[in-house]
Amino acid sequence: MQSVLKRATRSSIVCVRRSRKYHASVLPSLISSTSPEFRQKADAMDLLVADLEARLEHARQGGGPKAAERMRGRGKKLPRERLSLLLDPHTPFLELSPLAAHEVYPEHIPGAGMITGIGRISGRECMVVVNDATVKGGSYYPLTVKKHLRAQEIAREHGLPCVYVVESGGAALPHQANVFPDKEHFGRIFYNMAQMSALGIPQIALVHGISVAGGAYVPAMADENVIVAEQGRIFLAGPPLVKAATGEEVDEETLGGGLMHSSESGVTDHLARDDEHAIALARGIIGDLGITGWQSTGPSAVPEDPVYPASELHGIVGTDSRQAFDMRDVIARIADGSRFREFKKEYGTTMITGFAHVHGYQVGIVANNGILFSPSALKATHFIQLCSQRQIPLLFLVNVTGYMVGSKAERGGIAKDGAKMVRAVACANVPKLTVIVGGSFGAGNYGMAGRAYSPRFLWMWPNAKVSVMGSGQLSQVMATVSKDPSQHSSLKADIEAQSTALYSSARLWDDGIIKPTDTRDVVGLGLALAARERPTSRGRGSAGSTTWDGDGKGFGVFRM
Ligand code: COA
Repeated sequence: MQSVLKRATRSSIVCVRRSRKYHASVLPSLISSTSPEFRQKADAMDLLVADLEARLEHARQGGGPKAAERMRGRGKKLPRERLSLLLDPHTPFLELSPLAAHEVYPEHIPGAGMITGIGRISGRECMVVVNDATVKGGSYYPLTVKKHLRAQEIAREHGLPCVYVVESGGAALPHQANVFPDKEHFGRIFYNMAQMSALGIPQIALVHGISVAGGAYVPAMADENVIVAEQGRIFLAGPPLVKAATGEEVDEETLGGGLMHSSESGVTDHLARDDEHAIALARGIIGDLGITGWQSTGPSAVPEDPVYPASELHGIVGTDSRQAFDMRDVIARIADGSRFREFKKEYGTTMITGFAHVHGYQVGIVANNGILFSPSALKATHFIQLCSQRQIPLLFLVNVTGYMVGSKAERGGIAKDGAKMVRAVACANVPKLTVIVGGSFGAGNYGMAGRAYSPRFLWMWPNAKVSVMGSGQLSQVMATVSKDPSQHSSLKADIEAQSTALYSSARLWDDGIIKPTDTRDVVGLGLALAARERPTSRGRGSAGSTTWDGDGKGFGVFRM
């Protein structure tokens, strides 16, 4: 992933405009990469990263060799083959939540049966959503729906055209109660398509296989679509249900084949010979989109590599959240030229705030360096307001055990000072990116732009932990309040398991687990996407506004 991301930030997403050299002091770093402590931390992180890579590779195999062979036997390309044909050659793909649904369901549902991510098609950044029909026929589990909706949310925020590569049995029927009826369930996919179309964000669908029931609405709601002849099928109910409902006996091709839909019903716009042809047609459609409004402003400074190697991040942070480290050493391995203009350095020292550039994009960094006291919260609040006023995106580097507790802190008003920081984060009118580098515990999670605070992206390191408090404390509190000491150890183990990055990523509480060494490139991509702006002259809302409803004018594109 790292090399791919490097190419991304250097060659494709980033286009250097208005560049100038950025001047700020280079952070000193006194790390000894030969010290026993460094080596022990590095070894532990190396192991976690190797484990992550193995799990990612396993997830990339989708439903496994048997399902893949079956698909190939039907003359079809595999989902990842379709994806790579769709993307411009040698350009990056920022995959989202590849470990979604990991060990969530009794059966193996790799990636929640779906591949999503941001990639370049015909020279244009797009959100791509690919059903993986090798996994339970591409049917939608609850987490598949969540993954699809999250991809749409990111597309909406950044004005990214959406390309849906469809082959799906629709709702996973045994899970229908958690897939179908609620606001954030299946129907929301089509609502989002309509809203984005109304905003001028193109919605393109390719139908490579079955697209049934609710799934039939993905191509039907698309602005423009393609279907593969004698392979793609679109129908509201398949032949067995039609027979049961009406008594009509009809084969799949007659009921919903590409030729019928392209020549008679008008449900599809382009008839492709095979998967490759469909993808070529889609690339042509994206190439001809014209001006869709959202353009990157590009970086404001000349990108510069950090002075210190990213590989040292493993030995700086390690995997034990109780071992302290100086977050400036992390910033020094992410920021351009390791330069950082620190703000209020001597005040509220458990919070680090300051300005830097990443791949040439300016960013305000809010980073933890210990427990949050009132002054740390006030300093962050001040800094977030500065960035909002100056329209500088915020990067939260999180390693927080929470806000200070105890009578002294309470008398000092920690609750109201923490609330000021939480309010600032909630209302900041600039894009926020969050990287959980260590722990993200308690209300510290809120103040440091946790998932509920709508950062544009939230990434976890493999060692990262998220929970209401540490497992030890939580189980002790529960043992006290429940007066049942037997709860102590089992609860501790449960909480520990539920706090891990893997547990979080499986449930889409984040956008993916990244290798520490990829942080700079991933953040650079996030900032490049955050720099996409819609010219206000079109007057139809702007990328980054947090509301959907009422943003769009008109109805988008009706299929006729
Ligand atoms: N819900 C739950 N599981 C589903 C499913 C769905 N909608 N669609 C497919 N699956 C499962 C199958 O049970 C099978 O599981 P298994 O591997 O454990 O046996 C697996 O996905 C593959 O299905 P299979 O029928 O063997 O593959 P196929 O490639 O020949 O056909 C479909 C795939 C999707 C065309 C076919 O399974 C189908 O028609 N499914 C029902 C579609 C439907 O009516 N959906 C209504 C949704 S509202």
